[in-house]
Amino acid sequence: MLRNLWYKSAIIYQLDVRTFFDSDGNGWGDFQGLIEKLDYISGLGATCIWLKPFNPSPHRDDGYDISDYYAVDPHVGTLGDLADFLEEAASRGLAVITELVVNHTSTEHPWFVEAARSRDSELRDLYIWRDEPPPDGESPERIVFDGDDRSVWTKDDRTGQYYLHRFYPFEPDLDSAHPFLRSEIEKMILYYLKLGSAGFRIDAAPYLAEKASAAPEYDDAHDYLRDLRSFLTERRPDAAFMAEADVEPEKLDDFFGEGDEMNLMLNFLASEYIWLGLAQGSAVPLRELCDVLPRPPHSGQYANFLRNHDELDLEMLDEQDRRLVFETFAPHDDMRIFGRGIRRRAAPMLNGDPRRIRLAHSLLFSMPGTPIIYYGDEIGMGEDLSLWERRPVRLPMQWGPETNGGFSTATGDALYHPPLADGEFGYAEVNVADQRGDPDSLLNWMRHLVTTRKEAHAVGHGEWHVIDTGSDAVLGLHYDNNQEVVIVFHNLSDEASSVTFTPETELAYLYEMFADDQYGHPETEEHQFKINRLGYRWLRGRTA
Ligand code: BGC
Repeated sequence: MLRNLWYKSAIIYQLDVRTFFDSDGNGWGDFQGLIEKLDYISGLGATCIWLKPFNPSPHRDDGYDISDYYAVDPHVGTLGDLADFLEEAASRGLAVITELVVNHTSTEHPWFVEAARSRDSELRDLYIWRDEPPPDGESPERIVFDGDDRSVWTKDDRTGQYYLHRFYPFEPDLDSAHPFLRSEIEKMILYYLKLGSAGFRIDAAPYLAEKASAAPEYDDAHDYLRDLRSFLTERRPDAAFMAEADVEPEKLDDFFGEGDEMNLMLNFLASEYIWLGLAQGSAVPLRELCDVLPRPPHSGQYANFLRNHDELDLEMLDEQDRRLVFETFAPHDDMRIFGRGIRRRAAPMLNGDPRRIRLAHSLLFSMPGTPIIYYGDEIGMGEDLSLWERRPVRLPMQWGPETNGGFSTATGDALYHPPLADGEFGYAEVNVADQRGDPDSLLNWMRHLVTTRKEAHAVGHGEWHVIDTGSDAVLGLHYDNNQEVVIVFHNLSDEASSVTFTPETELAYLYEMFADDQYGHPETEEHQFKINRLGYRWLRGRTA
């Protein structure tokens, strides 16, 4: 049993078992391979793994197109291997968050196969059908991937009706107002809790909630999420939901509810603003972010990330800001996707510049919330833009300089995704083995960053506010939790900057925990210091 609110001080490591480590040479990462690498994850200092879907799937959407919720994809192991993995993770103190992808199934899921068979099928209403799609502009449903598949309605010739799919046509939307589905969702939660999940990432949470609100017992879209949460909490009080809800800031509050809905909210807004701040070389966007982000209730927390397995979505930025982020970090067309996103990894976006990569991660770890490391970002992995859609950022983990970066002994098409062999970010240049032994490597720096964040408990648990640094380039954040005080500075600009620092309360002591340079012993009185270009400084103290 984990301590309640454990997720507020967690360090989350996000990975896909298929791209982590292949133990049997079939070209796909697998659970036994992941078990072999658990010591690496725990050595990095992570305390939680967010595991992408591992169920049977046709893999047209890298496993988010699920065809059986209660089984394990045979390429990656058996149910026994999953249980083994969950046990091995627990024995290292690692919590595991699995996914609840119930906005849709794959078209190959037996539910859809049966529902699509005939208009009279008993499971027909598990999905959403219409005789005609609503006329253009009148559909309330918006398409998420506005690439080739522009409509959210696809005609199924077997019955002549159209089915709804917010995502790809091979991912028909389930109707969460349907009692059968809701009862299945509860069974899925129970099933994975029994196996050892510490929580669930709720895929496409707003759609799931909105559709459920049509059920007679619900008044609004959040009733269902509240119900689900009480179901979860009654079964396992320390389990957590982490929601994917890329919504406007004013709607985020509703997902936390009164502490009775989502525990963690993936912070899409923060990722956009961090990248905007980096593009502008200014702390101003991040100060704005801190103003607009609703404060979660005590049991709620943001889950912050720089990058994940999807595109970096820039939808919330205004036209001018979006253009700047595109021009700075994705100058070529093939780096962009869906007209609003970037399909690149953090390290190449930052030109592989160690100072910028460190600044960005330090900033991420200092933001109010729980940080997520996207696997491979701790060594500065790159992308392969020749691949389809979001696949460029889903390459096999680079363990060493040997063939396939040590990921697998398979060759050619047998490999789930091709390892990145060439170039500045290829496995010969960027890999765990080489970085382990190098005291100046990104990997060893990341370990230090993770330790620092763990020593700054107030960042996950305390009260916080933005402090005046006297410089637009420098973000200053102040955290306190009981008497513990953590103060963090980040200079986003390319020029050194002078910082004026005025402690707000009398401090018994203050010391430097982590910084890009030796800034010396910090004074507890008002003083000034000069922070390097792209510099960072973490201080810790205690109120007198
Ligand atoms: C996942 C995507 C996926 C989509 C549809 C999202 O939440 O993050 O990778 O394509 O759901 O399943």
